[in-house]
Amino acid sequence: MALESDSLLDWLEVDLGAVVHNFRVARRAAGEGVGVFPVVKADAYGLGAVKIALALEAEGAEGFCVALVEEARELRQAGIRRPIALLSAVEPGLESEVGALGLEPVIHRLEDARRLHDALPEGRSAQVHLKVDVGMGRLGFYPEEIPEALDGLERLPRLRLVSLVGHLACADEPQRPENGEQIRRMEALMAHWAVDRRLLSASLANSAGVMAHPGARFDWVRPGIMLYGASPFYPARRGEADGLRPVARWRGRILQVREMAAGTPVGYGHGFTTQRPTRLAIVRAGYADGYNRLLSGRGSALLHGTRVPVAGRVCMDLLALDITDAPPAQAGEAVTLLGRDGPAEIPVEEMASWLDTIPYEIFCRLGHRVRRLHLPPT
Ligand SMILES: Cc1ncc(COP(=O)(O)O)c(C=O)c1O
Repeated sequence: MALESDSLLDWLEVDLGAVVHNFRVARRAAGEGVGVFPVVKADAYGLGAVKIALALEAEGAEGFCVALVEEARELRQAGIRRPIALLSAVEPGLESEVGALGLEPVIHRLEDARRLHDALPEGRSAQVHLKVDVGMGRLGFYPEEIPEALDGLERLPRLRLVSLVGHLACADEPQRPENGEQIRRMEALMAHWAVDRRLLSASLANSAGVMAHPGARFDWVRPGIMLYGASPFYPARRGEADGLRPVARWRGRILQVREMAAGTPVGYGHGFTTQRPTRLAIVRAGYADGYNRLLSGRGSALLHGTRVPVAGRVCMDLLALDITDAPPAQAGEAVTLLGRDGPAEIPVEEMASWLDTIPYEIFCRLGHRVRRLHLPPT
């Protein structure tokens, strides 16, 4: 375990070996000849895009997906050489970086394509993907708009169309009929345009598509959450049920242990009053670090493998745990807010259920001041 954490009060351990393992699960599920482009947008869902992308490039990822030019820039500056698809949009003013950094925007409006084209210097070209709406109801061209989009792109010689990109709306609920319908629409488009325009490659699948919908895999896939160990089928399943390994462990250090008499009010608003002689651990983590304030009086943490409840209101930098029933602890020891601690675990799926949200949001909301410690693959 990284000794660097000895000097930290609040940190997140990211197990790159587990990320690599999960990537191999995605690779196997995607099958022979299908490119795997890990989705590392939003700083790899908060877990640290640079370290994760470097580990997965070394593991053979064919490319990466991000949302923003600045996310791609960070990867290029760190030495990532593989293709980077921009899933969202190119921010006005950053078009020239698309060419300079060799990025591959996903186009959903011809106006954006023209803007990009005009910003590319003579002699430079960019590969682009065309976003098609086969049922997601979000960005993209409807199938009937594709002829016009293809005609428009043909008039922009510095842009080279490489694939059609769709997105599954309901893949996390494998039994829903919309999945088959979306796959059929994509297949029909590919069959048609492959003949007419030599449009040879397509991408439709996110993690749930990779894991549960063989027909959705096409030529390249875009897994995100499965690489980070959480199940895309939450709340029906946990990642481990599908052979995924948990990746993240969030820890906070005890700043002080307090012995309190029964009837002592605790914290802001006196949101909790001890009902018995109580031992509290005041921990250095709060809502500014991403420990949601809605977990006040609702969440729990692990102290040396024993579950202990959050007592009273979560503060900006601190939270209190009732450790009366746990083995004795002292200031300077660490508690586990998320992830495994010996035989016990707070899975990200469980924390998501406390907050009526999804694991994606738990990871993405981890605060920037929580130091990420990446444990190298062994
Ligand atoms: C267009 C697109 N593709 C792929 C993904 C990855 O999805 P998941 O994390 O469910 O694998 C996302 C995630 O939001 C996305 O927006």
